[in-house]
Amino acid sequence: MTMYGWLVLLLWAGSVGLATQQPDTQTWLSYLRSRASNRVYGRYPGNYYASNYEDEEDESAEVLDCPLECDCPSAYPYAMYCHSRNLRHVPFVPSRMKYVYLQNNQITGITDGVFDNATGLVWIILHMNQLKSDKISNKVFSKLPKLERLFLYHNKLDRIPQGLPRSLRDLRINHNDISSMPADTLRGMVNLTALRLQSNAIKDTNGALESLQSLTYLDLRGNLLTKIPDRLPPKLNQLYLEYNRISAIPADFLRNRPELRFVRLSHNEITDKGIPPNAFNVTNLMELDLSYNKLEKIPTINTNLMNLYLQANHIKEFSISSFCRVVDMANYSNLRVLRLEANEIRAHDVPPEALLCLRMATNINL
Ligand SMILES: *[C@@H]1O[C@H](CO)[C@@H](O)[C@H](O)[C@H]1NC(C)=O
Ligand SMILES: *[C@@H]1O[C@H](CO)[C@@H](O)[C@H](O)[C@H]1NC(C)=O
Ligand SMILES: *[C@@H]1O[C@H](CO)[C@@H](O)[C@H](O)[C@H]1NC(C)=O
Ligand SMILES: *[C@@H]1O[C@H](CO)[C@@H](O)[C@H](O)[C@H]1NC(C)=O
Repeated sequence: MTMYGWLVLLLWAGSVGLATQQPDTQTWLSYLRSRASNRVYGRYPGNYYASNYEDEEDESAEVLDCPLECDCPSAYPYAMYCHSRNLRHVPFVPSRMKYVYLQNNQITGITDGVFDNATGLVWIILHMNQLKSDKISNKVFSKLPKLERLFLYHNKLDRIPQGLPRSLRDLRINHNDISSMPADTLRGMVNLTALRLQSNAIKDTNGALESLQSLTYLDLRGNLLTKIPDRLPPKLNQLYLEYNRISAIPADFLRNRPELRFVRLSHNEITDKGIPPNAFNVTNLMELDLSYNKLEKIPTINTNLMNLYLQANHIKEFSISSFCRVVDMANYSNLRVLRLEANEIRAHDVPPEALLCLRMATNINL
């Protein structure tokens, strides 16, 4: 069940009294629907947290400490809504706040001290502003030991802010002007699981990703990388490197990465020469996207791979040995989807053994 699902169910259980009453499924479903549309999605989109009704008695105090520019609805005592109102600065955040919504304004900088009382902040949402790196001091975020989510995407930052809290789990800083990443930028962020850096101007990650022990999702699409970042984090599951300038793959890039399932490298400059013989022959990978590159041959893949995208290359030959070294009853490829359109292969180039080797395929596009 999703987070919403649990939340709604808990709210419902609390107000209807799950233990004493057993309503029919129909009532339950329509209750969930009305609850979801009125309460959770209603006026404050983006707030995924249940309101705390017990705090409502203290309503006057809550309203008094709310900055004039913002809304602090009593039903959401830990949230401050300041988005989409042409703000040019971040208002001082009261100490009780956990979630601050500041997206879609004209904020260019962050004054030191605005978060100093709100040491319990868990989310700071600041995307779609005009933030500049030289108008954010190194100390602004550093004293927030509970901060988990920081959204800074679609701003004008030219570097990742220094002194980010080590508690971060989800950092979104895509669509900025970041060109360099000093090696220590993300040091010690042991809980960071998702890092979005797409659409920047990064040429090299300088090993800055190595210490991210929990990182599973890394998006570096649309940067200026000329090689696969060295020393990738150990638990990576999804790696997005589309729209860069990568021409070659290191031989050991996928070795010893049991967690890596999805690798996307489309719209790069990869040639046959850039792929060492068994670089992609690893057992854990499920999806490999090499479309829109400069390949003339189908690279050797492992029989466990399920999705292979090779469209829009210059492939001239359908080589069975790329998929199956041996073909018989017990040896075949698990490939489900194979995309080869916009290459130089026609249906009559596919040898008859392909049927046996690719017997699991549900979708082959030529
Ligand atoms: C910040 O916290 C201090 C100490 O709790 C308090 O005295 C002060 O009034 C707070 N500042 C604001 C602007 O709320
Ligand atoms: C990382 O998460 C764990 C578990 O939630 C927590 O106990 C720990 O304090 C966090 N580490 C940091 C540096 O915040
Ligand atoms: C892939 O590697 C394995 C060893 O890990 C090897 O036995 C197999 O023949 C290789 N596959 C191909 C198609 O070369
Ligand atoms: C072919 O299948 C058999 C039975 O599963 C297995 O023992 C053998 O290693 C396979 N050969 C290759 C080259 O994968």
